[in-house]
Amino acid sequence: MRNLSMLTPFFYVFVSFSLLAHISSVSTSTPPYVAVDDITLNCGTSSNSTDQFSKREWMGDIRSKFTPIEEADHKSIASTPHSSVNTVPYSTARLSYSQFMYDFHLTPGPKFVRFYFYPVSYPGFEGSRDFFTVKAGSFTLLKNFSASILANSLKEVTLSKEFCINVGKDQKLNLTFIPFPSTSGKSYVFINGIEIVSMPDKLYYGAEGPSTVPKLVGQDTGFPIKEDMALEKVVRLNVGGGFISAAADTGMFREWSQQKDSSWLSGGVNPHQVSFIPRYTKISNYTAPDDIYRSALSKGPNTTKNQGSNLTLKLSVDPGFHYLVRLHFCEIVFPITKPSQRVFQINIDNKIAEEWADVIQWTQRNETPVYKDYVVYIQNKLNLFIALLPRLSPYGIADVILNAVEVFKLSGYDKNLAGPNPESVPSPPPAQQPASTASESETKKTKIIAIGSGVGFLVVLTLVCCMLLWKVRKTKRYDSYYPLSKCWCWPEPDKGKSTRTRASSLPEELCRHFSIDEIKTATHNFHEALIVGVGGFGSVYKGFIDDGTMIVAVKRLNPESKQGFREFWTEIEMLSLLRHVHLVSLIGFCDEEGEMILVYDYLSNGTLRHHLYETQDDPLSWKQRLKICVGAASGLNYLHTGVKQPIIHRDVKSNNILLDEKWVAKVSDFGLSKTGQDNTAVSTMVKGTLGYLDPDYVRRQQLTEKSDVYSFGVVLFEVLCARKALDQKLEIEQCHLANWARKCIERGTIGEIIDSYLKGKIAPECFKVYVEVAESCVRDQVNQRPVMKDVMEKLSFALDLQENADAAKEKINPGGEHSYPKVVLFSVVSSTCVSQNKNIYREQMLETDSGTGFTMTNTELTCPSLDSAITSQDVLTDTTNSKA
Ligand SMILES: *[C@@H]1O[C@H](CO)[C@@H](O)[C@H](O)[C@H]1NC(C)=O
Ligand SMILES: *[C@@H]1O[C@H](CO)[C@@H](O)[C@H](O)[C@H]1NC(C)=O
Ligand SMILES: *[C@@H]1O[C@H](CO)[C@@H](O)[C@H](O)[C@H]1NC(C)=O
Ligand SMILES: *[C@@H]1O[C@H](CO)[C@@H](O)[C@H](O)[C@H]1NC(C)=O
Ligand SMILES: *[C@@H]1O[C@H](CO)[C@@H](O)[C@H](O)[C@H]1NC(C)=O
Ligand SMILES: *[C@@H]1O[C@H](CO)[C@@H](O)[C@H](O)[C@H]1NC(C)=O
Repeated sequence: MRNLSMLTPFFYVFVSFSLLAHISSVSTSTPPYVAVDDITLNCGTSSNSTDQFSKREWMGDIRSKFTPIEEADHKSIASTPHSSVNTVPYSTARLSYSQFMYDFHLTPGPKFVRFYFYPVSYPGFEGSRDFFTVKAGSFTLLKNFSASILANSLKEVTLSKEFCINVGKDQKLNLTFIPFPSTSGKSYVFINGIEIVSMPDKLYYGAEGPSTVPKLVGQDTGFPIKEDMALEKVVRLNVGGGFISAAADTGMFREWSQQKDSSWLSGGVNPHQVSFIPRYTKISNYTAPDDIYRSALSKGPNTTKNQGSNLTLKLSVDPGFHYLVRLHFCEIVFPITKPSQRVFQINIDNKIAEEWADVIQWTQRNETPVYKDYVVYIQNKLNLFIALLPRLSPYGIADVILNAVEVFKLSGYDKNLAGPNPESVPSPPPAQQPASTASESETKKTKIIAIGSGVGFLVVLTLVCCMLLWKVRKTKRYDSYYPLSKCWCWPEPDKGKSTRTRASSLPEELCRHFSIDEIKTATHNFHEALIVGVGGFGSVYKGFIDDGTMIVAVKRLNPESKQGFREFWTEIEMLSLLRHVHLVSLIGFCDEEGEMILVYDYLSNGTLRHHLYETQDDPLSWKQRLKICVGAASGLNYLHTGVKQPIIHRDVKSNNILLDEKWVAKVSDFGLSKTGQDNTAVSTMVKGTLGYLDPDYVRRQQLTEKSDVYSFGVVLFEVLCARKALDQKLEIEQCHLANWARKCIERGTIGEIIDSYLKGKIAPECFKVYVEVAESCVRDQVNQRPVMKDVMEKLSFALDLQENADAAKEKINPGGEHSYPKVVLFSVVSSTCVSQNKNIYREQMLETDSGTGFTMTNTELTCPSLDSAITSQDVLTDTTNSKA
């Protein structure tokens, strides 16, 4: 009699590739929107040049198709500024004492029109007498505008202005630059760069239904943004986050500025989540870059303090205009998942714009972005206030959240957008509140110029410093409170007064050391309600660390379990060294007060098993399943071959394959892992989960990578058939999935036991490859099973076949349902099929409250009905021998 202890699943163990994901998402992704018109015109030069930061090419306007049209005897002049800069497009300008016009043939639709100014002295144009008007067709965009006065007032070196203009069918866009007549001397007009970029039709303009028409604040009506209006950007603010460059926008080259503390009347906290991909189910994915939704501003957790307090943004504006206020929201603080948990009021210009703002109500889910548009008329004030006021919710929370703000000035019936120049305050003392009309979003290129070529050096220097600090201070790898980009360099305050550090070999920089207090706070003192899984050696809690801004899975090992302690360290040591996109990685651990606690990131879609059967959720599509299998196989392959000493997982099952928010598979639970030593198999006590156990391993107690291959084969059948690996309720012939599937393959009836949802959805050629690989994995003899790499490649091939077949169907019947013929007779040629049937176990299952345990009796090793199938005695003999 042999007792096998078994570990039950850990739910929700999780991704912590946040950093990597973050970096790669910026550098590699193709933008969600590709502009039809994308013109970058460098004024006052004949050569083309590339902006070294955005890598965009700017075309010189001299001798190009965009050469300006001007009066014959009053030519404009191409010039370079006195102070030399080499930043495109500021290094050259076009200047004139008389008007000139650029003419653009564009596709119809709304466009961004951006102007770039570098207001310094140019030869022949000294004295900051730049006063001019800019018209776009019939719109007056700027009037008596002085770039030098504005730059002065903003304390910026360069300026940009952004407008939105709709180009009608068969219309040209002509931009006219006209010096403003003045009595006190001759004024001139100048421009350094012009940019024209298309935008999606419905981004800011128009409305498909009444619900998307902006609400006119203070009145009961909507205020549609019509195509005959022009818009001027006042501010585009990444609330709670950093500056987002034009190149990192969604394809429209908008800059998102960092929040300036001076614009906020009251402080708050910055919740953020770095790793998630926003779910664009409510708005289009081009609305704003993902990073916009990963950070936010809130009041913080103190309900008492928050009540009666508010989050208020103050912007300087020109009176006499309507303004479009777009507020972006995305609930990223995890305790908040239900409607009415976080409710607040939104006031714009001291009028109620939204009485019950409730982001989850609007989006139904976390991590789902949404925006709300409001229009407000500012009659005679110089400031626009946007205030978010917490309301005490039925859940006892009083807080607000805001992810981004965009504000546009709207042209009126007179088609004018121009306002007065800011008061030319003779250099005010620095402490004064800056006159910050568009200040927030005015180009960051200023800084670029100021730093000039030093920037590269600074970057290197900063990096070196960071590296040094990182090494010296052993800064923790995870700090979710501030964006990693910011906090990486700063040593963390010593939160955990941990005195007991067991393994000095443990790389602290790879693995955060949590104090027990932190863990208790995170799990509400191990509150029962937060338990998400129970395993053989402990429980898994959902936890909230760093003031609730980050959700984690906290695995608390049962302190009494000696066996668990070993596994605890095995898992820490292994996980902190293993990094693979298809493996769950560890955030940290806690070993205070006799506790053994592991902390993982939270994988929001739970286990693969959860999505296969006994679930209320929508079934996974076949392609999704294939991708998950390829991913999991790749994770296991990495364990087997990617590291110096091969690692055998030992408990591969659908419950140990977790899914992140993008349905990427992550292999989890290395608690049982044993390092294989080259080719010598590891002999040890038999462990694993019934239904997945390699029969050869049970017989010989010799553990090899091929045992994982067997278990993975069982998972492949689970995925195909959507049923348990071992189902006691079924007839004895069918109870063990792998054996039953093999039998069906032999009989040619495998097509009949697959998940009914998948029927007609699998391309026959894909099905064949998939079944072949699954069958080869669960072969009885170890040496007849493939290695994980082959499994991964074959599955990937199966995925290709499915995709090709789908594409072919799509061609014939675009957008239609694709249906494939049923695979009637299917058989895998295998010489070993017959002898494979001898290994059916009879297991006695014991349901316990801490999971499922079992005992296995050797005397009952075969299902009675299959006794006759046993043709060779060697297996039983083997088993008996190994019992000794
Ligand atoms: C954006 O959404 C569109 C349509 O929903 C989709 O086709 C596209 O792949 C998405 N782009 C990105 C970068 O996510
Ligand atoms: C600049 O680029 C434009 C378009 O990319 C091209 O037509 C033009 O010939 C280039 N001019 C020079 C001087 O290279
Ligand atoms: C500029 O465009 C507007 C509108 O398309 C048109 O009315 C106007 O005549 C154009 N001006 C010139 C000088 O071509
Ligand atoms: C919350 O704020 C109130 C009022 O400012 C203060 O008295 C209280 O100590 C704060 N509570 C916590 C837990 O910080
Ligand atoms: C918001 O808070 C500021 C300062 O804390 C206060 O002056 C203002 O009156 C408040 N606004 C509202 C609408 O409560
Ligand atoms: C043009 O702007 C200057 C500077 O702000 C101002 O002094 C002047 O009065 C303005 N002229 C007109 C006609 O508005």
